[in-house]
Amino acid sequence: MPGDESWHHAVTGDAIEPPASFAEQANVTDPDLREQSAREWPDCWSRAADLLDWSDDYDAVLGGDGPPFRWFDGGELNASYNCVDRHLDERKNQVALTWEGRLGESRSYSYLDLYREVNEFAAALRELGVEEEDVVTLYMPVVPELPIAMLACARIGAPHSVVFAGFSADALAMRMDDADSEYLVTCDGYYRRGAPVHQKNKADNAAIALDDGIEATVVVDRLGVRDGGESSDAADDAPLAADEYDYDDLVTAHRGETVEPVPRDATDQLFLIYTSGTTGEPTGVRHTTGGYLAHAAWTSRAVLDIRPEDTHWCSADIGWITGHSYTVYGPLALGSTTMLYEGTPDHPEKDRVWELIERNAVDVFYTAPTAIRAFMKWGEQHPASHDLSSLRLLGTVGEPINPRAWKWYHEHIGNGECPVVDTWWQTETGGMMVTTLPGVDEMKPGSAGLPLPGIDAKVVDGDGEPVEPGETGYLVVTSPWPGMPLSMVEDDGWFADHAPVFPDLSDYEWAYFTEDGATVDEDGYVTLLGRVDDVINVSGHRFGTMEIESAIADVEGVAEAAVVSGPHDLKGQAVYAYVSAAEDSDEAALRGRVTDAVDAAIGPIAVPDVVVFTPELPKTRSGKVMRRLLEDIANDDDLGDTSALRNPEVVGELESALGERD
Ligand code: WTA
Repeated sequence: MPGDESWHHAVTGDAIEPPASFAEQANVTDPDLREQSAREWPDCWSRAADLLDWSDDYDAVLGGDGPPFRWFDGGELNASYNCVDRHLDERKNQVALTWEGRLGESRSYSYLDLYREVNEFAAALRELGVEEEDVVTLYMPVVPELPIAMLACARIGAPHSVVFAGFSADALAMRMDDADSEYLVTCDGYYRRGAPVHQKNKADNAAIALDDGIEATVVVDRLGVRDGGESSDAADDAPLAADEYDYDDLVTAHRGETVEPVPRDATDQLFLIYTSGTTGEPTGVRHTTGGYLAHAAWTSRAVLDIRPEDTHWCSADIGWITGHSYTVYGPLALGSTTMLYEGTPDHPEKDRVWELIERNAVDVFYTAPTAIRAFMKWGEQHPASHDLSSLRLLGTVGEPINPRAWKWYHEHIGNGECPVVDTWWQTETGGMMVTTLPGVDEMKPGSAGLPLPGIDAKVVDGDGEPVEPGETGYLVVTSPWPGMPLSMVEDDGWFADHAPVFPDLSDYEWAYFTEDGATVDEDGYVTLLGRVDDVINVSGHRFGTMEIESAIADVEGVAEAAVVSGPHDLKGQAVYAYVSAAEDSDEAALRGRVTDAVDAAIGPIAVPDVVVFTPELPKTRSGKVMRRLLEDIANDDDLGDTSALRNPEVVGELESALGERD
């Protein structure tokens, strides 16, 4: 219970044992799994493949001495069959997708409903001319038609490319062009904080920008206009052109049709997804059918502890890899109920998330530290006003979580009874790589945990040597894993072109450098320090910006903080801290507490030279703090492209705040 002393007794030093009540029922309980997997690598990954149905068995868990690495070589399967058809015998009437819309609407699809609609839309895509290996771009908010379209593409072997709905027309065009994608599924518009966003206009502008145009566009009627909805906006009423099709009309025209799932080689492409555009040009990451799906399914089972009777809510937008792996493919491969939420966490009220968890009796909740810090800022009265007792496990992903936010999540959302898994992974890894196993490992707030069984990850120095406990280095993965993307499968030189700083990994037969800095403790627990291009070098000492941020974020009265490097005559680089204060904080006092906290956590050398207060941090539409921009502001540089920002108005505020200091 929050405030109940007994909860604190479960905390031994910094480590927290998994609650016995959880461990007893966990999907994975074997403490020797890591060692056994290391001994039996790569064959240990057959346990992931065993979670899937294969139309043709694979010959080898890992084919090829690599590269190319062929996970589940010779095997054939279909992802749509695995996520839908095979569940019909046991649970055709169980809810597969439950959707909560922005305006308070909700819709549910049983596995049978999902089967029907995926088949009908697959038939429609075929009729439009989509063939195996054609890339279909999906540009929609979180509506049920998005996962349905993903599964319909998977059914006919057409890789999908989901483009986050908040991206601009140019961003959409760039991605369609890069992927040679001639088919688009989008919607007329959607609501954001009650106001319509005209998605179709953006799609039209993208089509104009594309040399070859778009072969066929399917439009989901999200605003309800063509069905006689409320909007009086003429743009939404625009009739469809000859190469544009209404989603509902297509599905209705194919009512009752079924499409045989196309058998795909394990190494055939399931989808591609572009990595976040905050630095450089976005790159398309292509994921496989067998390895990716096995990795997503096994980690959903082992780490998120999902079972078929669960309702699972991964709050990430499906436009990002997290939504692909842990809203769509992982949970549906396991036959559970996956919840989709189209809205924002504070609309109409700041208790929206807790209201949804209570109403849907959500068992597993997976979100990002940035959201948790917002929840903290809004106050514990919001979760406290709801019954959250259905929750069994909590997870986080996307950035390091500072111990204070971790503990708040554990106590105020999990009531001290739900394990918290801090899962480290990337778009490139396809699925989770470093985390605790919730029924087995003790948790250390702020540290992601251990490489998963069968994952060979380590923290190394610039020479590629594993670092001593307590030292910082680079997180590298030194053996292939099932969720590895096709670009790595095909070419071991792929990464060398992509890394800004590359530790010498020539002693390894094969290695992938993650671009993340990390440290490791005596127990092998990995703590992430942020991307290596975010490391600040002050007087020759390296500090992860995340390390300083975590110290600042732990200060009472701080809602969120971002740290970047700025210019400094003597020290090389100065530490700039941008701080957003919780409501009602006294800035002068807070400034002192921020300095003291960094001094205490790391040492005087890491104390910020400049602390800038801001109502909000500049964020990308995916919710990541845009550090490059903060760095440019600190350095008084040209700000470059700010089009990826969700809240561009903070830029001016930050510039004037810094200007006043000068
Ligand atoms: C960061 C999201 C600390 C990391 C799945 C990584 C994390 C990048 C964590 C990938 C975590 C992700 N702790 N940092 N638990 N999870 N990251 O491709 O810097 O959007 O390299 O994939 O997010 O972001 P991406």
